[in-house]
Amino acid sequence: MLEDALLTPSLVYAVVSLALVLLIKSALFPPLPDNIPPFPVRPWPVLGHLPYLLTGQRQKLLDWRKTTGDIFSLYFGSRLLVILNGHRLVRDGLVRNADSLSNRPPWAHLDGSTNGIIFSNGTLWKEQRTVSIAILRSFGMGKGALSDKIHEEIASYLDALAGLGGKPSDVALLTRTSVSNVICSIIVGKRFEYNDPFFAAFMDSFDKQVQASENTAPVMFWPWLRHIPGNFMNSKTLNNCVKEMLGEFCDKFINLARKDGDENMPNCFIAEYWKAMKERKSYSSTTTLDETNLRWVLLQLFFAGTDTTSSTILWFIYYMLRHPHIQEEEEVHICPSIHPSLQPPISVPHFAAGDVTLQGYTIPAGATVLPNLDSVMMDEKVWEEPLKFSPRRFIDAAGSLIKHEAFMPFSVGRRMCMGEALANMELFLFLSCLVQRFRLESALPGHPPSVRPVDAIVSAPGEFHARFVHRAAQRT
Ligand code: HEM
Repeated sequence: MLEDALLTPSLVYAVVSLALVLLIKSALFPPLPDNIPPFPVRPWPVLGHLPYLLTGQRQKLLDWRKTTGDIFSLYFGSRLLVILNGHRLVRDGLVRNADSLSNRPPWAHLDGSTNGIIFSNGTLWKEQRTVSIAILRSFGMGKGALSDKIHEEIASYLDALAGLGGKPSDVALLTRTSVSNVICSIIVGKRFEYNDPFFAAFMDSFDKQVQASENTAPVMFWPWLRHIPGNFMNSKTLNNCVKEMLGEFCDKFINLARKDGDENMPNCFIAEYWKAMKERKSYSSTTTLDETNLRWVLLQLFFAGTDTTSSTILWFIYYMLRHPHIQEEEEVHICPSIHPSLQPPISVPHFAAGDVTLQGYTIPAGATVLPNLDSVMMDEKVWEEPLKFSPRRFIDAAGSLIKHEAFMPFSVGRRMCMGEALANMELFLFLSCLVQRFRLESALPGHPPSVRPVDAIVSAPGEFHARFVHRAAQRT
């Protein structure tokens, strides 16, 4: 009797309605973990902070630091993203808490592939990274031996620039191709002519992939978006480009190195990886060195090593046009360096493997953590007029390069860039050779270009034209 009285239709209706309201509320406003860093602005239901970040993300993150502090949280769907700003906090997070913050988050792009170095974790990441660094070092990364290969490439780059005859030209593709060729000469032991059809097709695919990766962040946070029919947020283009590059190019690079048999491979990265793989397989059944990972490592070396370095060279050319007098200063000829305003990548996301306390807040296990390198390199508290292009801030009275703890374009901690030594060597040689051989001039004398950055994986200057005037020709 009591049961009948309780189960009246109106009561059932009330209970179901209440349950639905609670369900919708918890879907729209998921309960927040305790003591997380503050939000800079209220998140939207379901979408979280995504609507605020559809444009001008880099500037918005810098503005939010001013209003909220060095550490703040953002929500994307049900995923928590914690942003770390300023060199002390970034170091605290990535160095002092390296045990918890050295992983990568699950990566929805690339079909969630966690092979290779950049997106992998645990023993796989450790073995791939350690072996790859050892191979690069054995080729002289950070030492003189590699500079011969780089000089060989620079000679062709400078000839191609000289071939432009001082006419206004957009040299973005040429610069990317040339920097990519340095990686080629390490990977397969040879550089390609710029008009080689295989290499040109590779660069074309590479470009498509870089363009497709613009604004794909939402797919990372809502992986199901990539199943939406069509090509939502370029996710299909991106996956197709990756597959094409792995199949069409990385496999061919491997075949090229192995064409005369494993015993006669040229002196190159692929040969060294192959040797290490065979050796380890002979005594260990658990090694992660295999052909699949090799393909991914090659792709990632191209990716990580090309756009970053070539964009830095392009920013340098751009700033030389805007500040022509700097080209004549002796120190710039000998030690051009990455300047805060040369815009390194904002960084690659990390993942909290366990709870971490920073500045009294808790970053819960499972959160994605982004060290905002812009906030470090453009920090007004550290650099005087950080947006002003002034290479002299890095040169002391004796003409030597000043090392600054807040200068971290390659990040810090266990995940820091593994190509730093190679990149520094390339930048030093490319930039010094460039200003020694040419005077860089605007397309229209007295009218330096003014472009907006194009933010894809890294920030590159928008299209601009420059004239490369041979210094010897100018003197005669
Ligand atoms: C101007 C040039 C470059 C800059 C500014 C740069 C910057 C960075 C940054 C900020 C990261 C992320 C670090 C982190 O997660 O905390 C990174 C990772 C990485 N970089 Fe570079 N990089 C450059 C050139 C290169 C080159 C030439 C190579 C190739 C040899 C390379 C290979 C890598 C790899 C493989 C990773 C992933 C490391 C890992 O996940 O363990 N980078 N780089």
